[in-house]
Amino acid sequence: MTPLPTHRGEQPPPPLHLRGVTEGDLEALALLEREIFPEEPYPYFVLRQMYDLHPGHLLVLDDGTALKGYVLVATPPDDGPSWVLGLGITRDERGRGHGRRLMREALRRLRADGVREVCLTVDPANLAAIVLYESLGFTADEGVRKDYFGPGADRLVMRRSL
Ligand SMILES: CC(C)(COP(=O)(O)OP(=O)(O)OC[C@H]1O[C@@H](n2cnc3c(N)ncnc32)[C@H](O)[C@@H]1OP(=O)(O)O)[C@@H](O)C(=O)NCCC(=O)NCCS
Repeated sequence: MTPLPTHRGEQPPPPLHLRGVTEGDLEALALLEREIFPEEPYPYFVLRQMYDLHPGHLLVLDDGTALKGYVLVATPPDDGPSWVLGLGITRDERGRGHGRRLMREALRRLRADGVREVCLTVDPANLAAIVLYESLGFTADEGVRKDYFGPGADRLVMRRSL
């Protein structure tokens, strides 16, 4: 069905389709990563190798012409915890529930795979992300880990059981 125009005659934005990353997405994913984390993006080759290792656990939000968000998850082969290695939404789409949607779907897939614990790290100053993770049941019992990502790069390590 064609969406109804708004009162100003504009079309509402297209709904975002949540799907797994394909090999053909890697370039767009690298661009998205640079847009969301301009200071320290994962380079293309790291995204490529994450895709090689964990293709089913990399999810994107697609509006039909561009990627608008992603979550990257890695699971070790030894029954250890899975890690959320990246989560991001383009600035224009933030605050609309997309981050929560991606995280919930990632957690649903991990639970279905029999994963029992999920970890992640977050900048202790990143309130929006911390509030989101806490609302999804993550806790940071160990507090801030100093220099976790190298000198001066403290991180909050958060965990939740599935
Ligand atoms: C963190 C991020 C992924 C959240 O995505 P989002 O789509 O904007 O978040 P949602 O709309 O799904 O909001 C989910 C919850 O997060 C919390 N939240 C989101 N934005 C917030 C803000 N600016 N301040 C406080 N809490 C916020 C709220 O609890 C919200 O739930 P509510 O809407 O029911 O109150 C997004 O802000 C982002 O991409 N930031 C830059 C990249 C980043 O920091 N990634 C995380 C790295 S660890």
